[in-house]
Amino acid sequence: KPFLKTSYLGHTGEYHDLIGSTNDRAKELAASKVPEGFLVSANGQTAGRGRLGRSWNSPSGQGLYFSLVLYPNLPPVELPGLTLLAGLALAQTLEVLGVNVQIKWPNDLLINGRKVAGILTEIAAEAERTIYAVVGIGINIEPLAEEVKSSFAYPATALKEHLPEVSRQSLLALFLERFEKLYEEFKKGEFSWSLTEYKRRMAFLGEEVMIITGDREYRGVLHDLGEDGSLIINDGKTIKRFAAGEISLRRK
Ligand code: ATP
Ligand code: BTN
Repeated sequence: KPFLKTSYLGHTGEYHDLIGSTNDRAKELAASKVPEGFLVSANGQTAGRGRLGRSWNSPSGQGLYFSLVLYPNLPPVELPGLTLLAGLALAQTLEVLGVNVQIKWPNDLLINGRKVAGILTEIAAEAERTIYAVVGIGINIEPLAEEVKSSFAYPATALKEHLPEVSRQSLLALFLERFEKLYEEFKKGEFSWSLTEYKRRMAFLGEEVMIITGDREYRGVLHDLGEDGSLIINDGKTIKRFAAGEISLRRK
């Protein structure tokens, strides 16, 4: 990997032409203690996953699908921050390449209001101790088929619609460099700078939104991003915080 300028992210790894889910494979490998920064990437996935058991459409040769194995020595409650960091690193990478992106809290990247990439962080923990974290990223590169796109709950787009010349390899290398820097700071507790940068790119800030949890909906104004990475909503009477867990955010 001569093109990689990281000090460890992506230095070890495996590539699959077709796999179920790179996150599932990375979790297996993490349990058997592969080195930190181990990269599982695939040309296509047959069972790519999003949050809440939803599926992530991963047609062969059409996107970038990969997962990283990490062993952050931090309590599990702090790990939602990893999703935010990965989103920020990817946003900055795409900006360097020349596209403007917004981050739909907590884990989706938007170009002109359409979803181009998603992040799925999964962790294993025992009491207050983190055993491993897997950060999985899926980026649509080639335009998706219309009938596929129209089946999604949220409008989608692909990078080539905005950057016709993009290469998967250089995109991955640039992302790994960014993410490694942010991850090193995160482990040292230097998270606030990243939150400021994240907030700058956050979609719907100051706008009316809807928060959908398993069985309820909340409406309010997206007021702020908390110092712990939570979402702060103002419904006119009270201020509510939502942890980066099992909720979906929608513009009203
Ligand atoms: P939202 O519900 O707002 O779409 P979310 O973060 O709650 O976002 P996720 O679980 O992150 O939802 O994303 C999975 C959803 O994304 C799927 O239910 C599907 O609608 C959509 N989706 C699946 N594959 C793709 C893809 N390749 N590109 C864009 N969207 C996709
Ligand atoms: C989302 O928007 O819910 C997150 C989608 C994450 C998809 C990526 S593709 C690589 C990795 N493997 C998976 O099964 N999911 C993530």
